[in-house]
Amino acid sequence: MTAPRDPTALPRHVAIIMDGNGRWAKQRGLPRLAGHEAGARAVKRVTTHARKLGLGALTLYAFSEQNWGRPTAEVDGLMKLLGHYIVAERAEILDHDIRFSTIGDVERLPRPLQDAIADLKQASSQNRGMDFCIALSYGGREELLRAARAAAAACVAGELSPDALDEATFERLLYTSHLPPLDLLIRTSGEVRISNFLLWQCAYAELVFTPVCWPDFGETDLDDAIARFQGRERRFGLTPDQLPN
Ligand code: IPE
Ligand code: IPE
Ligand code: MG
Repeated sequence: MTAPRDPTALPRHVAIIMDGNGRWAKQRGLPRLAGHEAGARAVKRVTTHARKLGLGALTLYAFSEQNWGRPTAEVDGLMKLLGHYIVAERAEILDHDIRFSTIGDVERLPRPLQDAIADLKQASSQNRGMDFCIALSYGGREELLRAARAAAAACVAGELSPDALDEATFERLLYTSHLPPLDLLIRTSGEVRISNFLLWQCAYAELVFTPVCWPDFGETDLDDAIARFQGRERRFGLTPDQLPN
């Protein structure tokens, strides 16, 4: 794909399911963790490019609730890698006016990683250049259940009437309440599924699937995905004639 990118029509929020680290490593006769290390280098490449493009928000799916079920050595390796990444990228994030956040059940993460995350969130909270969000111990169903529980508790406490629970109120209970609406979801590695990612937020996102494994994903792959997004007609249930030009 080489269609030109239109900088005036960037997606407000891009999310990526960074998949294929294990297969990338296997193809090279390397251990799975080597794939995750190469994946961390791709994260750096892609976030830098997203910032240069002027994207408003980027969310990366790094570890799902279901990924806790992987072998302990892989989970431990991933947690170490995430810890290193946060420490190594701290200055870069702060220097470039990036606001860092996470979505997911971070309380399940190892304590030192939780502390590093809390510190970077706090230090970058006033930044406005780009929202950079990592989904960690994240599940879409879990997020929806958590929001439903919070809404039910507010009803029981008499703070919310069930009839007043509309989409806007519910969205404020989701992990993503601080982020713009999701316009584009990309998944790498050729798998064509959502894997419990941003289930509510995907309702009208454009989906782009690419066979490229995450460690090989680079600047032009992001450009191509955005170009594909820009080539789509988003109708939101209307007929083409009803859409603004
Ligand atoms: C994505 O790559 C990273 C995580 C899920 C943590 P995988 O580890 O799922 O790689 P494949 O899908 O086995 O190739
Ligand atoms: C989704 O990838 C989770 C992340 C990329 C963090 P998985 O590799 O865990 O998803 P499945 O198992 O292929 O659905
Ligand atoms: Mg996978």
